[in-house]
Amino acid sequence: MSEQIADYSNLPKVEAWTRLNADVRTVLEGIDDDVAAMATISAMLYHGFGHLWAGFYRVVEPDRLLRVGPYQGSLGCLEIAFGSGVCGTAAAERRTVVVPDVNRFPGHIACDASARSEIVTPVVNGKGELTAVLDIDSEHLETFDDEDARGIETLVTWFARR
Ligand code: SME
Repeated sequence: MSEQIADYSNLPKVEAWTRLNADVRTVLEGIDDDVAAMATISAMLYHGFGHLWAGFYRVVEPDRLLRVGPYQGSLGCLEIAFGSGVCGTAAAERRTVVVPDVNRFPGHIACDASARSEIVTPVVNGKGELTAVLDIDSEHLETFDDEDARGIETLVTWFARR
C-alpha cells in the first residue's frame, strides 16, 4: 500500500470495509504497539471514510470509566462513565451500538453538536477483557447499519487479538 490513505467513501459498504480491513493489516503488519495501532486505525477510518470523528475510548477504570484517545476529528469529550451515552452503553453491555439518529438516543453525549449518527463497538482482548471502545461519528443521519457493524467488528477483533 502507498503512504496515502485510500478513499473508501464511494465504495459499496461491504467492499469498503473489506479493503479497509485489508489495508489496516498491511499497514500495521509487525506492529506490536497498541497506541501506534489505535492512532493508525483512527487516521485510516477518519480520512478514508470522511466521517466527523473516529477513535477510541480506553477503559481506565474497569466497569467504571472510559478516557479518550487516540482519535481523529473534532475535540472529543475526555471521559465517559460506563453506562453513559453511546460509548458507555457499548462498554457496559459489551455490544456494538448503531445509532441512526443521536437525538433519539437517550443520554447521547454531544461532544460535537454536528454529530447526527454514530456506531460504537467494544474492543475485547484475547483474555476476554474489555480494553476500549471504537467510536465513529457522522454528521449525517442514518450513516451506519449492520454492514458497518460487521466491518467494524472484524476490525476490532483483529486489533484486539493480534
Ligand atoms: N457521542 C458519544 C460521545 C463520544 S463522541 O461523540 C466523540 C457518546 O454518546 O458516547
